[in-house]
Amino acid sequence: MTNSTEEEKRIRKEQKLVADWKALMRTFVRPENDATRATLVKYMEQILFGLNEFLKRHVDITKEISLKELSLRFKDTQISEQPEKKLAEVITDLINDIAPYAVNVASPYFIGHMTSAIPFFMVHLKTIVSALNQNMVKLETSKVASVLEKQVLAKIHRLIYQESEAFYQEHVQNVDTTLGSFVEGGTTANLTALWVARNKAFAPTNGFKGIEIEGHYAAYRAYGVDRSVVLVSRLGHYSLRKASGILGIGNQNIIAIDVDKNNCIDIDCLNKTIKEIKQNSRTKILAVVGIAGTTETGNIDPLLKLGEICAENNIHFHVDAAFGGPTLMSERYKYLLNGIELADSVTMDGHKQFYMPMTCGMVYFKDPTIMDAVIYHANYVIRRGSVDIGIKSLSGSREANSMILDSSLKIMGSKGYALLIDHGIELARKFAEEIKKRELFQLITPPQLNILTYRVCPVHIQNKLFSGDSNETRLINENLDRINRTVQRIQREAGNSFVSRTVLKDMNNNEIVVLRCVLMNPLTNMKIIKEILDEQEEIYKNRFENFSDNIEKDDI
Ligand SMILES: Cc1ncc(COP(=O)(O)O)c(C=O)c1O
Repeated sequence: MTNSTEEEKRIRKEQKLVADWKALMRTFVRPENDATRATLVKYMEQILFGLNEFLKRHVDITKEISLKELSLRFKDTQISEQPEKKLAEVITDLINDIAPYAVNVASPYFIGHMTSAIPFFMVHLKTIVSALNQNMVKLETSKVASVLEKQVLAKIHRLIYQESEAFYQEHVQNVDTTLGSFVEGGTTANLTALWVARNKAFAPTNGFKGIEIEGHYAAYRAYGVDRSVVLVSRLGHYSLRKASGILGIGNQNIIAIDVDKNNCIDIDCLNKTIKEIKQNSRTKILAVVGIAGTTETGNIDPLLKLGEICAENNIHFHVDAAFGGPTLMSERYKYLLNGIELADSVTMDGHKQFYMPMTCGMVYFKDPTIMDAVIYHANYVIRRGSVDIGIKSLSGSREANSMILDSSLKIMGSKGYALLIDHGIELARKFAEEIKKRELFQLITPPQLNILTYRVCPVHIQNKLFSGDSNETRLINENLDRINRTVQRIQREAGNSFVSRTVLKDMNNNEIVVLRCVLMNPLTNMKIIKEILDEQEEIYKNRFENFSDNIEKDDI
């Protein structure tokens, strides 16, 4: 592994690796002759093809090794005074000793999370971003990259809102308006959206300077309220709660609205809640959040309806499309997101279905002036009157990820992305059919996008659950939960494939453990899916062959 053995230390001593000015300078200057150039190119090749070979060859999800064993290898807490290794050695170590123990999220057998394979050209684009090392906080450290960023923000804004050509010509390079903002991920995108919504709801008025300046106590006094809330289905991402904590709203004031049988926000329930809150005039609704692709089940809330409700009640409408947003590029399935154009703000993640490398989040706003609610200035940067992107941004220093997205859109075209989106959705549907055919499994949430959940639940037990009394149902479910946790764990630890697990409510409102799959990798196909299900059947057979509904064995 990368930690030095005594032998390596002895060899290094002989090689006399020392930190001196001359050696240091060499790491900063561009290759000054053919020999150094050739060496650097060789290293780059090692990175590109060494890792690529690994990702191709190593279809196992991870090498079988316990976290404990791994952590024992990384207990060296001293920074050595003199250099320990040369660049070539470090690269070789990372490729040979670290990568095999990382998680091969590029494997087509890795279908458990929203992190998947990326097109290989992304590595090249990311390298360019690192090499240029632009800082998007200000024009002085980014120049054309800032202008390019505004262009790609307008492209995605247009995908969502479909405003007129004149609108985009007015705003694409307008230094006073902002169509959106790049951030670290979906979490910070949601935080930015709620930050803007909060500041809009408690804007300056009658001698009150606004919540951003005076804080909550003054804001609530100025507006005559005691509390502010955000409404979202109970399948909302936990980042919304985090955002409410950070923004001082209080995460208990993220009100979870029940979902219907399709895991979409229950509109009656939402209307009732809004009505009740409005009757208590001392509570302010900051936002209603619609989800376009829930994290656990991939379902999409009825955005059109939510948009209408928000407009009627003058509530900020945010859509969390971190996962499902790119579906807008699919001619076949974009209708699933009808109504997203009514949103005041929209979250999207580049590192999910735009297939960008980690990490890239974005938030878009219908009103190009709404981000004026979060303007910040400093004397040495983002000065008043400057056109720095960082003036209206949660992030400070930030890399030029927008360059990757703009390039990727050019390389793939919306049609290329649509092929990926369509493949995922259609594969998920076939997967669901396969589950229905197998006696061992029960489909829990049929896919609307490319996510589905199911569980191990033999068909005779399914029948029993259907007709059983509630006490019996609870006991059976408890056993099934144990079995599903065990099957998922054993499969993960075996390292051939990976599905994730979560807890959902079934139709009787019982919490049950389910297996969750996200079909993003274009190399995943039905043959692979059948193998993954076969493996689960095998694990079940070996561990729980004699499963009955009154099984007592605790296998965990
Ligand atoms: C719907 C939704 N919103 C927000 C997030 C948070 O995104 P990130 O992990 O990029 O911060 C996720 C992540 O899975 C998500 O599924």
